[in-house]
Amino acid sequence: METGKKKKIAILTGGGDAPGLNAVIYSLTKTCILKYGYEVIGYRFGYRGLLLNEYKPLTLETISGILHKGGSILCSSNKHNLFDFPLKDENGDFVRDENGNIVKRDVSDVAIENLKKDGVDVLVVLGGDGSLTSARDFSKKGVNVIGVPKTIDNDLKATDVTFGFNTAVNICTEALGRVHTTAESHHRVIIVEVMGRNAGWIALHSGIAGSADVILIPEIPYKLENIVAKIEERDRRGKPFSIIVVSEGAKEEGGSQVINKIVEDSPDAVRLGGIAHKLSYQLEQLIDDEHEVRPVVLGHTQRGGETSPYDRILSARYGSYAAHMIAEGRFGEMVCLKGSEITSIPFDEVIGGQRLVDPNCELIQVARNMGISFGDEPIK
Ligand code: F6P
Repeated sequence: METGKKKKIAILTGGGDAPGLNAVIYSLTKTCILKYGYEVIGYRFGYRGLLLNEYKPLTLETISGILHKGGSILCSSNKHNLFDFPLKDENGDFVRDENGNIVKRDVSDVAIENLKKDGVDVLVVLGGDGSLTSARDFSKKGVNVIGVPKTIDNDLKATDVTFGFNTAVNICTEALGRVHTTAESHHRVIIVEVMGRNAGWIALHSGIAGSADVILIPEIPYKLENIVAKIEERDRRGKPFSIIVVSEGAKEEGGSQVINKIVEDSPDAVRLGGIAHKLSYQLEQLIDDEHEVRPVVLGHTQRGGETSPYDRILSARYGSYAAHMIAEGRFGEMVCLKGSEITSIPFDEVIGGQRLVDPNCELIQVARNMGISFGDEPIK
């Protein structure tokens, strides 16, 4: 950095949005401006903004009032891996090879040129596994990068908690409470499908907090007969209704995950979804006519609206810590939570491998001890 020049920090929010993005932007920007006297800008739509050089100044005025709000004032995208970027022709159509696959190329140098042109000294990436992988790759190319772990799925292996997860759990827990009363009124089985990709954290936490009778997660394949047995057991105990929370990535023993759609130009192309409807149909064939089954898919409600107080605080801590890292010149690392302490970890230890639920962990045992079924064991 030139001496005498005000340090310039750029922020981008990559991947699917998560409640807490704005709180990190708020805390980081405020700390950068008020404590350190830096200038801050934000690239729009994640790495797309970096490629197209679309950004806006982040000032005390432009960030005013955003801390509690979900979403991202910078907008986000889960499609723009600049190291493996889909090529388009002059008509805007994807260029394809002889096998029909989209042709991709590395356009990261364009982004690096933009950073230089804009006089950016440090790039802070708020993202999940995909965005942080690119952050690591930019760091390897000499860019000063800091990562902040975001995702409602809570599946990043290098931090105890990602921001966004707590809000999603709160929303799912509230939904489970709401379907309880209607399920009870109609003597129905209600299946609530939650997000999480290949990790069952949202289902596990909300299922326990929301008193689900059955929790189905990707890490523990289920058998239909065990779910039916649980519904019948409740019936015999005078509880002629049941609540099932199913993670979008859950699957039957020997079966496969239900895919909703393939987003071809996204680095992680598979979008899961649809298991609640599938399961609903299957269970209706197997249980008596007294109990209708209804699927409820919470979908993107889990990422929207207001950020929970826990996530606001976690995000504020992450943002503030990232600003201190900039001041100390600590780059190539991601901010993380270890126990109750905010610290940081090198990108190489962050990338690859998801943090999944250990089927033998304490929380699973806690649930089992309370009679919650995971669909894997027969009812005793
Ligand atoms: O990773 C966050 C997440 O919400 C997942 O839980 C879900 O599978 C996916 O993103 C949905 O992606 P999209 O926003 O593209 O529908």
